[in-house]
Parts: sequence; C-alpha cells; structure tokens
Amino acid sequence: VEKNFIGRDIISLHDFSREEILFILAFAQQFENLRNSMMSGRILATCFYEPSTRTRLSFESAMFQLGGDVIGFDAGSSSSAVKGETVADTAKMIEGYADVMVIRHPQEGSARVAGESSTIPVINGGDGANQHPTQTFLDLYTILKTKGTLSNLKIGFIGDLKYGRTVHSLAEALTHFNSSLYFISPTSLRMPSHILSFLTEHDQLYYETTDLYDYLFELDIVYVTRIQKERFFDSLEYEKVKNSYVLDKRILKTVKQDLKILHPLPRVNEIDSSLDSSPQAEYFQQSKNGVTVRKALLSLVLGIYP
Ligand code: CP
Repeated sequence: VEKNFIGRDIISLHDFSREEILFILAFAQQFENLRNSMMSGRILATCFYEPSTRTRLSFESAMFQLGGDVIGFDAGSSSSAVKGETVADTAKMIEGYADVMVIRHPQEGSARVAGESSTIPVINGGDGANQHPTQTFLDLYTILKTKGTLSNLKIGFIGDLKYGRTVHSLAEALTHFNSSLYFISPTSLRMPSHILSFLTEHDQLYYETTDLYDYLFELDIVYVTRIQKERFFDSLEYEKVKNSYVLDKRILKTVKQDLKILHPLPRVNEIDSSLDSSPQAEYFQQSKNGVTVRKALLSLVLGIYP
C-alpha cells in the first residue's frame, strides 16, 4: 500500500480515501520519536510565503530527524516573488533543487498550481482559507491517539469557522468516520456554505450554535481556533468578534472528564493558560504529533521507509 503514495502531492483531503487516511494514521505510529538517517542525501524545500512556526519548523525537524537536509525561504518578501515570479515558475524551478517541497501561500489554490507545475511531490502547508491537509492528518492522529477511535465521537469546533482552513479540512475528513460535529461560532464567522453543503452531501450530522454552552457538556473533543485578525478586511468587524469565546478553568465544571481540547495553534486569548495544566489540554502534544505525522508523510511521498 505504501507504494501508492510515492510521488503524490498532498494538496487536499479530498484527494484521499477513508482507507488511505486510516493507512497514513497507522503508518505514522512507527515514526513516534524515531531518529535515523533514512533520508540521507534527500532535500526538502520549504517555500513559505506566509508566517508559520509549527508547520515549517515541524517539517524541518521531521526531515532533520530522518537525516535529510532542508532549504527554503520563510517569507515571500525574501524570495523572487517580490520581483513578480509566479508560484508555478518557482515550483518548476524547485524541482531542480529538492526532492520534495512544502508550500504555504495566502492564495487559495496556489498549492494545486505548484503541484501541477512540478514533478516532485508538493505538500500544501496551507493555502489561504482553503486547506491545510497535513494539519488535518496530525489532528486526526491526535484524536485517534487520545480517543482510540475516530467514530461515534461528539466533536465541537469553536471560533473562526469561516476563515479557519484547519477546520474546513478536518470537518471534511471527519465525514468518513461517523462522528457528530458541533459548530460554535459568531454568526459572522459561521462555517462557509460550501463546506456545509459538502457535509450534507456526505450525510454528515452537524449542529450550529453561537452559544458555547449549548453542547459543551456532551463533547468528547473541542477543536478551538483563533479568530484570525489577518483575514478580516474590516478591522471593526474583527473588534466585534475577537473575544467571542475564551475558554478558562470555569469550563472544567461543565465538560466531560475525558474531554480533550485541541487547537492548531497559535492561540491568542481563546484558551486561557490556566487550562494548560489540565488533563483536558491536548494542544501542545497535538503540535508535537505534527513532527511524527510529517515524518510519515515525507516517507510515503518519497518512497523511503524505516
Ligand atoms: N498550526 C499551524 O499551521 O501553525 P503555524 O501557522 O505556526 O504553522
């Protein structure tokens, strides 16, 4: 089965079947804390036109932990994009420099363009408000690791569901697994209608509310997101919603004891640091799981195995 992934781009969760997703999650387990030299002589290019801490550094850490090398840029302003070079040209050229490429770009669809322009595997590290597939693989990995299943769970999404690409990818992926989804957001930041239509077409049960406490007591997972200031055209609109949901120790009186709180991070104020030491807080472990899952994805697309 591993061989089906060799040379593939990772652009969208739509490109992966249920069986493939489950295979990747199982395959990733062997990469927990694995350090070796299996990627010796291989080069990863990280092409980040937008800021990132976790995605870029966890990919770089993954490559280094497996003995490979990394080249790249961490801002469009330090690449020839400022001179007008297109994503397509950059991706075409990177194939002469590296064996695999990760791209983050503010424009939706840019990773697909890069993938179509390049012969090496291209991994989407986030394209605008569209998709963030490797985040979704690590989110699914984290849910599976903490709950032992992806099915029959009650999973809440809190915050910016309109612009949050991580919630779009994750909600769509969860349609494979027979869990119930609860969308908790300000009205202006509701899950987009095209995602809701996708869920309906795939018989996915979901509920929407603006009230944090409507469903909180019954949830198994809450996936909290930052209200993303940088995605608002109108700063007054941001000011209206920026403090909509702030989770702090008070929620522990309400929630199930085995609730797990996830967040793709970075956070601003939506999870108070007083929750960090609670057994429900899973978000730092979640970000660590990113290295494990990204090692597995690099292994699969390059066809180099432990
Ligand atoms: N979760 C995530 O994508 O974080 P970064 O923006 O820091 O990469």
